[in-house]
Amino acid sequence: MNEATNAPTIRTAAEAKGGYREMLLRLMTRQFYAETATAEVFGRSIGCAPSLREKFLAAEFAGEEAEHSARLCKLFEALGEDPEKVHAKRPPAAQFWSLDLDNWIHIAVFNFTVDRAGSQQIMEYRDSSYEPWAKEMDSVLRDEEGHYGNGVENLREFARDPVKFAEFQRLYNQMLPVTIKRAFGRPTGPDNDYCVKVGLKRHPTEQVVNRYLEEMLGYMRECKLKFPAMSAFEKIGAEILPSTRTVLMSNQ
Ligand SMILES: [Fe+2]
Ligand SMILES: [Fe+2]
Repeated sequence: MNEATNAPTIRTAAEAKGGYREMLLRLMTRQFYAETATAEVFGRSIGCAPSLREKFLAAEFAGEEAEHSARLCKLFEALGEDPEKVHAKRPPAAQFWSLDLDNWIHIAVFNFTVDRAGSQQIMEYRDSSYEPWAKEMDSVLRDEEGHYGNGVENLREFARDPVKFAEFQRLYNQMLPVTIKRAFGRPTGPDNDYCVKVGLKRHPTEQVVNRYLEEMLGYMRECKLKFPAMSAFEKIGAEILPSTRTVLMSNQ
């Protein structure tokens, strides 16, 4: 049960109906797009990774992202949806994440920034009122801890070389606003309220975004990485609420 709303637990696909089912499918599709596109990013990055160790890790992460995708395929099938059809509508991975898939710095920034945004959403889904989905997310989150650990390690590595680090910062300035806009969606509005009301998420988007940024902030301070200027968010129309602005402004 959701403490805030007393939303009932939905235990089977057959019980998911009407507006609830529709919203569930929208959220699952968003995760499915992210998992499948990220599998492709890591798969492709085997080619541009600078060391054997990084190549092996990229291959491992690609396999894990594919496994996360396969879990969602099963969930779609249980709901009577064809995962191939859902997948066919996803934009190409490079376009979906605005990335150069053959550039190692792009991959490193992606790993620190974009992949973790997905994990923060999955933390919400792990506690979702749709039990079949929630049950699948524990092992996904364990893998994601490993991906983020590597993202942080890469950040530290780049921070040791001022020229490469300047490029890391430049790409981060582009990628973070896009991530906030695309991975989390609008921080306010009826969809958000509905998700919390029916327990598909446990926290409003504003809190999830702030949790994501605050987690990053510790590593950023350690490595002297700054948040992008507020103008970078305004430029692409990412909606930033006052509490999020405060976090962003604390490390400019
Ligand atoms: Fe994943
Ligand atoms: Fe990941």
